[in-house]
Amino acid sequence: MRFSSSLLAAAAIITTTNAQNGYKGFNYGALFNNQAPKAQADFEYEFKAAKALPGTNGDFTAARLYTMIQGGTTNSVLSAIPAAVATNTHLLLGLWASAGDAQFANEITALKAAISTYGTAFTNLVVGISVGSEDLYRITPTGIANKAGAGAQPKTLINYISQTRSAIANTGLAGKPVGHVDTWTAYDNSSNSAVVSALDFLGMDAYPYFQTTMANSIANANSTFYDAYDATVRASQGKPVWVTETGWPVIGATQNQAVANAANARIYWEDVYCSLSAKKVNTFWYMLQEAQYGNPSPDFGIYGAGDLSTLTPRYSLTCSGSAKPRL
Ligand SMILES: *[C@@H]1O[C@H](CO)[C@@H](O)[C@H](O)[C@H]1NC(C)=O
Ligand SMILES: *[C@@H]1O[C@H](CO)[C@@H](O)[C@H](O)[C@H]1NC(C)=O
Repeated sequence: MRFSSSLLAAAAIITTTNAQNGYKGFNYGALFNNQAPKAQADFEYEFKAAKALPGTNGDFTAARLYTMIQGGTTNSVLSAIPAAVATNTHLLLGLWASAGDAQFANEITALKAAISTYGTAFTNLVVGISVGSEDLYRITPTGIANKAGAGAQPKTLINYISQTRSAIANTGLAGKPVGHVDTWTAYDNSSNSAVVSALDFLGMDAYPYFQTTMANSIANANSTFYDAYDATVRASQGKPVWVTETGWPVIGATQNQAVANAANARIYWEDVYCSLSAKKVNTFWYMLQEAQYGNPSPDFGIYGAGDLSTLTPRYSLTCSGSAKPRL
């Protein structure tokens, strides 16, 4: 049987859009709440706690990182890399792209050092590489008003994406998908379409809790999230859209109609996490633990402050379909 080439092309696009492995992970910063750098043992402890999370069947085997650079160094490899090798944790790597060209060069140096130091034990764990995190959000009027930092222009990101592709060519990371993480609003902005053209996947961050210009109660949160996801898919040029940050806080100020508490975080998990999981969308939740000590606000942690090996989750993580009624 013969297929026309256009039919085959259409089938290829559909396959690409759906080419997700259902990776599940959390976001991991490089520093503690007090800005002290995490060491390898700290990352191992967090990765093991994620895999042991009650009610999740050991599904949280992946970690999203924001930088390749160990805190307090110029360009040494982040200690999360050997921690992932030691614990067999999949990695969505991140290269920080909001601090200018010289700092991005340090990210590339650390990426190359990770490849040469850890070899295939490292590269086989990598599921994707994100060039940047919310850099396009930071240059918008809202990002600037929130004092979110310098950010990066679309043409700067395109340059960094190209540098990253060159750095991984002919290495163990060749062929790994290169993407970018940003807020759904950045993708919904056609001024950024040339960045999307340069990507293999789009990492989308969306927080209905913070969408204060909309009716953002927990009762609307699932549809608010999927409106953001669908807008990103429309802007994706047929590329896969991964969820790189979402969650609902357990503690925090009320934001318009959004109330932070464990019952609402549970509803958001049941509606949003469980439906993404069922669809096998690669998902990096925000987050396992906001801070090991201190009282952050908002606090999105499944675990509160304290020792992860002794705490219990603040809400149930099972996907039972029974987290009703909606509030
Ligand atoms: C749209 O994107 C451009 C380029 O990234 C940015 O300068 C502009 O502020 C964005 N517009 C809004 C409304 O966010
Ligand atoms: C949340 O929205 C998605 C997409 O429309 C849908 O698949 C899912 O069933 C919804 N969940 C609930 C609890 O409404």
